[in-house]
Amino acid sequence: MYLKKLSLINFRNFLNEEAEFGNFINLFIGKNAQGKTNLLESIYCCSFGKSFRTKRDKDLVNYNSSYYSIRAWVESLEGSFEVKLTYDRNREAKEAYINGIKCKNLSQMIGKIKIVIFYPDHLFIVKGSPAARRKYLDGQMILGIPTYYHYFSRYQNILRNRNTLLKDVKNTDIWVWEEQLARYGAKIIIQRMKVVEILSRIVSEIYSCLTEGQWVLKMEYKASLKNASILMEEEEIKKAFLRELEKNRDRDRKLGFTTVGPHRDDISFFLNGKPIRDFGSQGQQRLAVLALKLAEAEFIKKNTGESPILLLDDVMSELDAEKRRLFFQMLSSSQAFITAADSGILLDKFLKNVYLWEIIDGTIKKISRIREDL
Ligand SMILES: Nc1ncnc2c1ncn2[C@@H]1O[C@H](COP(=O)(O)OP(=O)(O)OP(=O)(O)O)[C@@H](O)[C@H]1O
Ligand SMILES: [Mg+2]
Repeated sequence: MYLKKLSLINFRNFLNEEAEFGNFINLFIGKNAQGKTNLLESIYCCSFGKSFRTKRDKDLVNYNSSYYSIRAWVESLEGSFEVKLTYDRNREAKEAYINGIKCKNLSQMIGKIKIVIFYPDHLFIVKGSPAARRKYLDGQMILGIPTYYHYFSRYQNILRNRNTLLKDVKNTDIWVWEEQLARYGAKIIIQRMKVVEILSRIVSEIYSCLTEGQWVLKMEYKASLKNASILMEEEEIKKAFLRELEKNRDRDRKLGFTTVGPHRDDISFFLNGKPIRDFGSQGQQRLAVLALKLAEAEFIKKNTGESPILLLDDVMSELDAEKRRLFFQMLSSSQAFITAADSGILLDKFLKNVYLWEIIDGTIKKISRIREDL
């Protein structure tokens, strides 16, 4: 899949810009605060219907305007299509259009453009809280597995009900909720374990390539349910979960919440067998996140047959020259939008077949169509 053309009106510091992109690597050079991340953000909005930087759409509207409009023309295996997203600050109205036809619901446009984004803040996936990591994983699961969202939201509702009943000591119906919690919880655990295992295999290959075989990165699903394993059947996990819920009921009553279940699970990252969170250098941790993002892209490609578009913000500053070379080699089949504040990267000899752009104060300028060797 690739983005052929983008038109931005009053989006952040872009007043009225239009650009046609190359279907391989597009490298955007620009000093700080010129609009590089804003550009990636606009593409992201066309895929997810919201920004990755703010929850408030009004922040995305240019200071001197009352609305924004983003139009993206995309080529995919299913043919070409156009996505348009608009927001009117006065009416507080966000609208999406596919091929000019208004979507009844914003969810109709979400994920139509397949995107994987790397943003420096994503270091939280390795270093942040288990809750943040679970949120990240669930986001991936919802995008990759059509039934997941249903199970996930059922589970959340049932969990809320059990937690409420925990406070009502006289109530004897709590087992009804536990039965359901175990049923949906088992589905979530087994699906998450499978996805983490697939991602772990891909990420490990990518990390090895980027470090020329020196380092092995592995991901592991850490279930709060003791002895839960990918080798177990869903029914077995359900029974084990139900037993734990019954066993922990008194403790849970005292604490006022459910202490076991997928809502308490986590993912761990190991580099050459050691937790990267505690032992990895800053560079190794950043590289792990980048490898994970490339693995996500590969996972989407495997599931859908289509390579997603990569949005890689300020990724070059994370890598030394040798890793940059290996990284560019890896971006073989995807369209990528890469931003860099440091124009020193242009001296990299391996930088060939790249569309070069410059972002200056909210304008997108093409420097050269395809860069030839230096
Ligand atoms: N709603 C808005 N309207 C107009 N300008 C905005 C709006 N929101 C942010 N900006 C401006 O956009 C600029 C920041 O753009 P962006 O974050 O894309 O910078 P960048 O090129 O990625 O810089 P860096 O290299 O520092 O990351 C700032 O100058 C900011 O004032
Ligand atoms: Mg930026």
